[in-house]
Amino acid sequence: MFLVVIATLASVGFAADVQLIDGITPKVLPPVNYQESLILSEIQEQLSRKIVSEISWEKVRDLTLENGFEANGNIQADVTDYALKVVKNIENLIIEGGLDPLALSNQSINMIVGSITLTDGWLQELSTLNISDAVIAKYTQTTGVLELTLPLAFDSILISYDYHTKVLLLSIKGAIDAKVKHVSMNLHMGFNFTNYHAFVDDVDITDTGSITIKLTGLGLLDWIIEMITNTLTALFHSIIIWVVNLVIYTPVNMVVNAINDAIDSVLNGSNSTLLNYYN
Ligand SMILES: *[C@@H]1O[C@H](CO)[C@@H](O)[C@H](O)[C@H]1NC(C)=O
Repeated sequence: MFLVVIATLASVGFAADVQLIDGITPKVLPPVNYQESLILSEIQEQLSRKIVSEISWEKVRDLTLENGFEANGNIQADVTDYALKVVKNIENLIIEGGLDPLALSNQSINMIVGSITLTDGWLQELSTLNISDAVIAKYTQTTGVLELTLPLAFDSILISYDYHTKVLLLSIKGAIDAKVKHVSMNLHMGFNFTNYHAFVDDVDITDTGSITIKLTGLGLLDWIIEMITNTLTALFHSIIIWVVNLVIYTPVNMVVNAINDAIDSVLNGSNSTLLNYYN
C-alpha cells in the first residue's frame, strides 16, 4: 500500500519551494512521538466550529427526502454537491489556520548504521483535500437514522527536510523531498433523529498513498540511500497518518461531541445553545 520510489539527484537546489502566505504563521507539527501535544488544538477547534456551521443534518435529510429513491428499506440520495461545498470551506480553513504549509519539527533518528538529523521541515499541500467519489446519504425513516460516508483524498502531499547523516566515517548533508500521492480515507458519520445524536466512526484510511523520496548529497552510497529511504518512509508514513487524524478525525469528533452536548442540554431543559448548531 505504501509504495516507495527512490530517486537521487546529483545536483542541489531541487527542494520544493515553501510558499509562505502574508499574515499567516505556519503551525509547527511536534515530533511524531509527541502524541499528547495540544499545540494544534486551537486549529482543531476552529476547524470544528467551521464544520459545525457548515453541516446541517436537517439540510442533508431534506435533500435526501427531496431527491432520494427508495432502496433496501431506506431512502438514498446523492449529496455530493453539498459535501463538496463543506470540504471547500475546510480547505480554506486549512490554509488560514497555518496548516498549509505546516512546519515540521527537527528529528534525530538512529538508523541500522549511523544516524540522521532532519531540520527545516515542511509539509505542504494539505489543502488539496478533496472528495474522491460520490457521497450517498441514506435515511431510514423507521429508525430516523441518517448516515453517509465521506470519501476524502489528498491528491498530493509534499514533505521536505534538510538532512545531515553520519554513517561510519562519512558525514553527508543534503536535502530530501518526498511526494505522497493519493492518500485517501473514508469518514463515516451520521445523525440519529430519534435521540438527536450525531455519530462519527474512526477515520478508515483506505490508502496511505504512494511515496516518492528524492535525496541530494555528495558522496551518498547506494546502501546508505536505501537505509535512509527505508527509515524516512516509516517516519513520513507516521507523519501522514498523524496529520490526517489531526486535520480530519479529531475536529469531526469534537464537532459531534459538541452537537450531542448541546442537544443533551436542550433535552435536559437548560438554556439553549442548540440554535448555534442548527438553523
Ligand atoms: C437512535 O436512537 C434511538 C433512541 O435512543 C436508539 O434506540 C437507536 O438505537 C439509535 N440508533 C442508532 C443507529 O444509533
